[in-house]
Amino acid sequence: MTAYLNGKFMPIAEAKISPLDRGFLFADGAYEVIPVYGRYGFRQEEHMRRFQVSLDGIRLPNPHTPDEWRALIKQIIANAPFEDQQLYIQVTRGADVKRDAAFPVNVPQTVFMFTAPMAKPSAEMRANGVACITAPDIRWGRCDLKTVALLANSQARQVSVDAGCTETIMIRDGYLTEGSASNVFIVKNGTLYTPDLTSCLEGITRATVLTLADELGLKVIEKRITRDEVYCADEAFFTGTAAEVTPIRELDRIEIGCGSRGPITEKLQNAFFDIVNGRNPKYAHWLTKV
Ligand code: PDD
Repeated sequence: MTAYLNGKFMPIAEAKISPLDRGFLFADGAYEVIPVYGRYGFRQEEHMRRFQVSLDGIRLPNPHTPDEWRALIKQIIANAPFEDQQLYIQVTRGADVKRDAAFPVNVPQTVFMFTAPMAKPSAEMRANGVACITAPDIRWGRCDLKTVALLANSQARQVSVDAGCTETIMIRDGYLTEGSASNVFIVKNGTLYTPDLTSCLEGITRATVLTLADELGLKVIEKRITRDEVYCADEAFFTGTAAEVTPIRELDRIEIGCGSRGPITEKLQNAFFDIVNGRNPKYAHWLTKV
């Protein structure tokens, strides 16, 4: 695994940080995950814009200019011995000499990146869908930011591991919010529904699917969705950098629709893979050449 830490590229095993790092003590940091297909960063600029939103949201100065980030990203992708990658970028408020919750003064941020082979859903999961389970959404209020405070997401994810499921769909006050690391969509009577942005992260894959839905002439409604509406959906799927577009065949052991991938999900998946695999020239600009 190829890593970068505070100005140096190195094998991940050589990357060391202080135990006083505020990412470690307070989860005081923001992160991004960029999918890389064939060494092209997919919607890299949008990911880096969202990273800026996350940094601003926790009042953490960005240690690099956009051009500096582009150069670092280019180099780490080029250094990796694999084509399809998941690039992780994290900035924390650095390591002070003491443990104090208040922001330290004159402490440099910790900048960390690593890239790993992309963990894609299997062909079987893409074609037939996966089983998911619901759990209460116990996260803090700023779910619009990608911060490293992922304890509640991790707890939620483990619920699906324990149940032999693939993803945990989180519910708050009776309404669907999102997956532990994904956004969720349902289809009912030909219309695509997804929670509005008051209750979920503005996923880049979510935005891609919304654009594709528009191109396919689908009616799209962003609104609050109840758990029962998900159970009664004709189709459901979740989206994300790691999940891509993954059909949900059952939720809480209840079969969704026909209990397999639905036709609208399949159309959106095909359109998505055409773009990330460079087969749709209209969206070639979403693939950043390294
Ligand atoms: N997670 N919602 C949550 C809570 C997420 O953590 C993610 C992504 C998404 C989907 O966003 P995008 O389409 O931009 O990847 C939605 C990343 C992959 C992660 O934390 O590893």
